[in-house]
Amino acid sequence: MHTVLIRNIRSLVNTRKETGILRGEGLKELPCIDDAFLYVEDGIIKAFGKMQDLPEHLTAMDIIDADGSYVLPCWCDSHSHLVFAASREEEFVDKINGLSYAAIAAKGGGILNSAAKLNATSEDALYESAYKRLNELIALGTGALEIKSGYGLSVEGELKMLRVIKRLKENASIPIKSTFLAAHAFPAKYKNDHEGYIRLIIEDMLPVIAEEQLADFVDVFCEEGFFSVEEMQRVCEAGAQYGLRPKLHVNQLNSIGGIEAGIALNAVSLDHLETLTEDEIEHLSSPTWQGLCTLLPTAAFFLRMQYQPARQLIDAGCAVALASDFNPGSSPSGNMNFVVSLSCIQMKMLPEEAINAATVNGAFAMNLENEVGSITIGKKANIIFTRPMSSLAYLPYAFGNNMIEKVMINGSFVMT
Ligand code: NIG
Ligand code: FE
Repeated sequence: MHTVLIRNIRSLVNTRKETGILRGEGLKELPCIDDAFLYVEDGIIKAFGKMQDLPEHLTAMDIIDADGSYVLPCWCDSHSHLVFAASREEEFVDKINGLSYAAIAAKGGGILNSAAKLNATSEDALYESAYKRLNELIALGTGALEIKSGYGLSVEGELKMLRVIKRLKENASIPIKSTFLAAHAFPAKYKNDHEGYIRLIIEDMLPVIAEEQLADFVDVFCEEGFFSVEEMQRVCEAGAQYGLRPKLHVNQLNSIGGIEAGIALNAVSLDHLETLTEDEIEHLSSPTWQGLCTLLPTAAFFLRMQYQPARQLIDAGCAVALASDFNPGSSPSGNMNFVVSLSCIQMKMLPEEAINAATVNGAFAMNLENEVGSITIGKKANIIFTRPMSSLAYLPYAFGNNMIEKVMINGSFVMT
């Protein structure tokens, strides 16, 4: 048995006996233990408390002096598109030069550009590049990750992406969840035949996905010019036949009814939410819906859009999670430290609220709440050690500075 004792932690952050989804006022409460120890057996948290209460007999194979670091649970990033074939910085420059979204799409840009490149890339090459990105994220403190398909948009392409995610799950040191997002955009071939593509998803993709257990959730990009509410309902209802609950892209650009429909479909999370009406905020705050509002501020930042109304959502009592949306088109970074900073700077979330939203609630948004997201006995020792800081608020305050000293996954330090 491998045992680890971490001593002299300046503050052990997010220590909880049990975790429920944090909503409204509850997001402000971030339980911490100052001058603490943490004890780990075979990668699992077994004990923690104040240094003065450290049992004398407690010893371990590895004794680590935290040397005044803050110790936090790793980030739980519940929305990413980590698997892709190529970056899209040429579109980034086109936008700076004033080209419109339509003009970029006409040049072969956007999601369809990523799909063409993905379909022309081998499964092994996709796996290698995604595995490298994954390890870069882990070094930045990500200790659990959701990854979507959605750049295949063909039977072979979607299955290839999902098989890559399955390999990542098998080989990664952190828990990974897989989401089926064939309903990300209509491929050119089906531009005028939506019915044909929906049938391809329902009849040709979903049965194979269920058979090979390639997905944990189903997702749809519900937006003008993409999938209508009715199309989203059909895909989600078909997914539900195979036990897949929805995590949905809604209200990024327009409000077309995705929120009410998503709640009725019992979505695990409703993601993006840049564009919300007062009524929709009220729906999202309904205590009868046990789902989360997942905000993706780096996508709003990169696309130069309005940020999600985090303050209004929290003040209305909503359960807010934060995620990176890492993808080559709208958020070419999966750095959760920056997501947390940006949430405080631009969305006026308190540091405590942002940390809770990126840990406990992120774990709930992936159904990983029993494994990660807090310092709780029985959960994985996936933890961040910070550099010396004057207070916890320094972490989001010092945006762009890497405040992570080291990262521990399953009780072992990650080599960087
Ligand atoms: O979550 N909004 C839809 N999908 C992605 C962007 C996809 C892309 O541009 O490649 C997102 O932001
Ligand atoms: Fe996304």
